[in-house]
Amino acid sequence: MVLSGADKNNVKGLFAKIGGQAEEYGAETLERMFAAYPQTKTYFPHFDLGKGSAQVKGHGKKVAAALVEAANNIDDITSALSKLSDLHAQKLRVDPVNFKLLGQCFLVVVATRSPALLTPEVHASLDKFLCAVGNVLTAKYR
Ligand code: HEM
Repeated sequence: MVLSGADKNNVKGLFAKIGGQAEEYGAETLERMFAAYPQTKTYFPHFDLGKGSAQVKGHGKKVAAALVEAANNIDDITSALSKLSDLHAQKLRVDPVNFKLLGQCFLVVVATRSPALLTPEVHASLDKFLCAVGNVLTAKYR
């Protein structure tokens, strides 16, 4: 997935505007993923997945921070997420289909919370970016 210069600017601009709300976006992304695609819950048997769960909030914060890190290093997402790639592909062995589900949920969160930001161009760029992040996190299966 090749991001153009315009894509990179769109993604960086979006995360700059989301700013400090990114943590809440991350938590709602997970809530939506667990609700809409319950099969994703199988990776979190050790989490309380109930409404308002502190664990889901805490994890949403981590996921959001990783997305911000990737956006800040958009020219080299592979290096920026190298450790997370080891974790997801080699230790957690998350099935790659699940990254598309999480990406969809993040898009929905942006669409519902910040509809004005999600122009068709930004939507397309964000979709490419989320695919690129998913590709990096699933690149190390063996
Ligand atoms: C852990 C990011 C997708 C399952 C993590 C951590 C981060 C992260 C930052 C914490 C790592 C640490 O504590 O050192 C991401 C990002 C994703 C993504 C950016 C995609 C954009 C997924 C998906 C699943 C998943 C799709 C499964 C449906 C897990 C699990 C853990 C984890 C089970 C360990 C949780 C724990 O025990 O604390 N992820 N993740 N991740 N992730 Fe992901």
